[in-house]
Amino acid sequence: MAIKRIVKYGEQSLREPSKEVFKVSKKIQDLVHDMLETMYSANGVGLAAPQIGVNLRIFVIDVSSENEPLNPLVFINPKIIKKSGSICTQEGCLSFPEVYSDVKRAEYVMVKATDLKGRSFVMEAKDGSLLARAIQHEYDHLEGILFVDRCADVEATEQELAKHSLPKIQQDRLIKD
Ligand code: NI
Repeated sequence: MAIKRIVKYGEQSLREPSKEVFKVSKKIQDLVHDMLETMYSANGVGLAAPQIGVNLRIFVIDVSSENEPLNPLVFINPKIIKKSGSICTQEGCLSFPEVYSDVKRAEYVMVKATDLKGRSFVMEAKDGSLLARAIQHEYDHLEGILFVDRCADVEATEQELAKHSLPKIQQDRLIKD
């Protein structure tokens, strides 16, 4: 296992759509372990493969709090099969150190994915929970979509990005829904 460098906003792999995983091989399992180690070392809640420069459809999430045991969740070839409701709260991303912005997400999601043993599973996340938000945020990474593309307040987000010397918002990528 190894801690990988996290790709920062402005780098190309964050904008490339990711490819399906053909088989959960030993190589894929090793990649997932590297992703988990990288996420934990950065104190993140979620990490998608493109964030370590690998454009494959995989993300990991752990929403457990500090005094709880670790609870790593692995999503390979995820599909969001249901979503409903709407909630707007602050979000961040390991590829945007110290930048936070309000983003509107669904309150409820149902996701289908493959786990580290190659088994298919379905998971629900409700009530605008951190898990519901993280699933949508990480899923976006696999499509080359970043949270700033969905920001509720473009001007405030521009200021945040400038403060941290990160590239400007790409106006043509903004998603309004
Ligand atoms: Ni992110």
